[in-house]
Amino acid sequence: MKKLKYEFSVNEFESIADVPEKDADFIEMAEKAQEKAYAPYSNFKVGAVVVLANGSVYTGNNQENAAYPDGLCAERVAIFKASADNPGVAMQSVYITCTETGGICAPCGSCRQALMEYENKQGSPIQVWIPGGNGKILMVEAVKDILPFPFSLKK
Ligand code: THU
Repeated sequence: MKKLKYEFSVNEFESIADVPEKDADFIEMAEKAQEKAYAPYSNFKVGAVVVLANGSVYTGNNQENAAYPDGLCAERVAIFKASADNPGVAMQSVYITCTETGGICAPCGSCRQALMEYENKQGSPIQVWIPGGNGKILMVEAVKDILPFPFSLKK
């Protein structure tokens, strides 16, 4: 037996002021979508924006349900909306915001898997922008960087 070590890289911006303007605008758009979340059970609001290669931009926010598992995360609302209207168009970047916790607000495992599906299908990376805590912003250059050993039906 030997222990293998896997690494991933993340780009850190000290504050929104350091983020390129177009990306900062999409983060602001995600914040606006976050405010429209339907989250009466958790009171935890999440916003998401996905930018497509054809220039289309889709927003999402978490949608909860009295039957808790029937709700859906903001990221999947956004990417499913985008894919439903633009089948076969590559996703370039996803911007996520959430109720301030002072910590990193990373997508859950199910959303990473859902994002990975499109990254694999399109054969090009999807950037993921997330709050890094205390005003910092983090950006990973591909979903695969935050989903080691993804589930796949292929070899
Ligand atoms: N949530 C998201 O929208 N995205 C995630 O990646 C994780 C969690 C939502 C689900 C639920 O409505 C609330 O946050 C609390 O878990």
